[in-house]
Amino acid sequence: TTRAVVAGCGHYLPDRIVENAEFEKTLDTSDEWIRARSGIERRHFAADGQTTSDMAARAARAALADSGRTPADVDAIILATSTADLTFPSAATMVQAELGMTGGFAFDVQAVCAGFVYALANAHALIVSGQVNRVLVIGAETFSRIMDWTDRSTCVLFGDGAGALLLEAQAGTGDVSDRGVLSTDLHSDGRHRDILYVDGGVSTQSTGHLRMQGREVFRHAVEKLADTAEAALGKAGLTGQDVDWVVPHQANIRIIQGTARKLGLPMERVVVTVQDHGNTSAASIPLALSVGQARGQIRKGDLLVTEAIGGGLAWGAVVLRW
Ligand code: ACO
Repeated sequence: TTRAVVAGCGHYLPDRIVENAEFEKTLDTSDEWIRARSGIERRHFAADGQTTSDMAARAARAALADSGRTPADVDAIILATSTADLTFPSAATMVQAELGMTGGFAFDVQAVCAGFVYALANAHALIVSGQVNRVLVIGAETFSRIMDWTDRSTCVLFGDGAGALLLEAQAGTGDVSDRGVLSTDLHSDGRHRDILYVDGGVSTQSTGHLRMQGREVFRHAVEKLADTAEAALGKAGLTGQDVDWVVPHQANIRIIQGTARKLGLPMERVVVTVQDHGNTSAASIPLALSVGQARGQIRKGDLLVTEAIGGGLAWGAVVLRW
């Protein structure tokens, strides 16, 4: 059996850190409200002019350094983002150029906050079907560019950043003791468009701002996330009890806690970074993987389940042994 195994992991966060208290100057909000309702304490924002592909390339270089590989070893780049630099070309091809690669192929995946899970599932499929040996899977976002800074119910929740994994084809035995991706589970349901969307885009000729009915999103999130995590575990012949680390999309600590409770897992087995990063959409899971590894939480051989939900709605989960 061919497995898509994590060979390296890295991240990049822009220098500018904004604490909750900064929003008190311009909005009717408070540090206490933001912490209590979301778990967020601070977030990073990209510098003026800094782009998604710039942050993505930095995260990719960190993942390559962690793996001991070079850009010449990479066959494909899949970049999950909803905030690409330009309408086209893809931000992934910009990363490819930045890394000095002239071979292989690169493309973006757009599934909002579920983007990294979608990208990981696609990279896995390319590897197990024998089309490529090494794929950089990146999540990178500049959500600060689509915030309505007068809307306190959204602009305090999001942040910018990037994270990346290098996945590599390796021979496995075919059982769940193998390292690498063990199962994937993806879903979307376009009927829920209006509860989380950006009110602009190319064919409507504007950039737009993020609009969200937070309570409605919350209502869907816990149930769908627990269901998809359980489905992915089931496909691999595993249950929640086999999991060393849940690495959830970092949107809101209450969603993360609710999902862990539904999976029957204590918070000691959940990687949490939302307090420091806010919601970085498709970047949040690779950021949490990289930070979790750097903290010494996630170790080689650990069984992980990642899960995410976002605009669409689109959601899904990936089970992998680190
Ligand atoms: N500061 C102070 N008060 C606020 C703020 C703020 N920043 N934002 C909203 N409020 C007010 C509201 O106006 C409301 O006031 P009202 O009762 O007078 O109308 C009150 O606080 C309660 O608002 P709710 O929306 O009911 O608060 P809730 O407990 O649901 O928390 C939150 C809001 C944090 C948005 C929550 O619903 C949530 O996290 N939902 C999920 C959103 C999410 O995770 N989205 C991302 C997932 S997908 C993706 O990542 C793109």
